[in-house]
Amino acid sequence: MTAPTQPLAGASAASPPALSVHDLRKTYDNGVEALKGISLDVQPGDFHALLGPNGAGKSTLIGIVSSLVNKTSGSVHVFGVDLHARRDEAMRLIGLVPQELNFNMFEKPLDILVNYAGFYGIARAEALVRAEEELKRAQLWGKAQLTARTLSGGMKRRLMIARAMMTRPRLLILDEPTAGVDIEIRRDMWKTLREINAAGTTIILTTHYLEEAESLCRHLAIIDHGAIVEQGPMRELLAKLDVEGFLFDVDGVLPDALPAIDGATLVALDPHTLDLDMPRAMDLNRVFTVLSDAGIRVRSMRTKSNRLEELFVRMTGSNAAQPADRAA
Ligand SMILES: Nc1ncnc2c1ncn2[C@@H]1O[C@H](COP(=O)(O)OP(=O)(O)OP(=O)(O)O)[C@@H](O)[C@H]1O
Ligand SMILES: [Mg+2]
Repeated sequence: MTAPTQPLAGASAASPPALSVHDLRKTYDNGVEALKGISLDVQPGDFHALLGPNGAGKSTLIGIVSSLVNKTSGSVHVFGVDLHARRDEAMRLIGLVPQELNFNMFEKPLDILVNYAGFYGIARAEALVRAEEELKRAQLWGKAQLTARTLSGGMKRRLMIARAMMTRPRLLILDEPTAGVDIEIRRDMWKTLREINAAGTTIILTTHYLEEAESLCRHLAIIDHGAIVEQGPMRELLAKLDVEGFLFDVDGVLPDALPAIDGATLVALDPHTLDLDMPRAMDLNRVFTVLSDAGIRVRSMRTKSNRLEELFVRMTGSNAAQPADRAA
């Protein structure tokens, strides 16, 4: 399934980005360089994924944006508001859903939401109105008066989102909200998040799962070792993933003019080696026919490794076994 392609809700040429991060760096006290100069713009209305393996720097980035972690250098603007200069104003625009469940399990969902709103100076009467609205959206209204402990795993996750929505944030940031939860709960959360995004809230989601990013997000940034290694529209990145690369060793010396192959890119790396990028769906026999018609004889071929693909394989492969362990 591919990401939706409709224009971003609430976006206009004049509005500043929902999040604008420029040359952000973070070196922790122990010397770990967690962010090495990250720049990223997220447009209003977007559903944006931050994808990356363990230790890539995702939580550090989110921590800085939500004022939980001090940056070393660089700048962060939230809807044009400088986080450093006007922290409270910027923070009022952001809702954060941290990875771990961190509400009091012995409180009732309604109280959890109303008390949370209280921290943000929202009057009780207004908080009650919002709590009803958010609990209904999260399909938790029927559970409003039960002890939170008795909610299912999926309900607890939805409660975390409902709580973050109490302040009516324009930007909702979720740090691996689905790590360690089963596929049914994940799909359930995707539905809730899609609805929130459709209602106009910009969403940034960190995840290990390419599938999740692909299903939900219109834009994507891949972080690895504190740097962004890829970013752009989901469709473009997926198209890149769909390209296969080959190296051909040829007999003799290549002609000066190489034949053209529709839809593929063919270049000579040296007089005896050809480099081919072609869509995965393309028939390799067609390539051989074109080459042989041009008098080029392929002696052997090998697959080129694709950096992006390797990254994905490493992430999905190495992390597929981890979610259960990570559910703290
Ligand atoms: N408080 C801290 N003190 C020192 N180093 C830290 C601290 N928090 C994170 N790091 C280090 O910074 C790097 C980035 O960590 P971060 O938590 O941002 O990664 P992440 O992408 O969120 O990873 P994960 O997917 O495992 O949650 C890692 O090398 C980590 O060990
Ligand atoms: Mg993290």
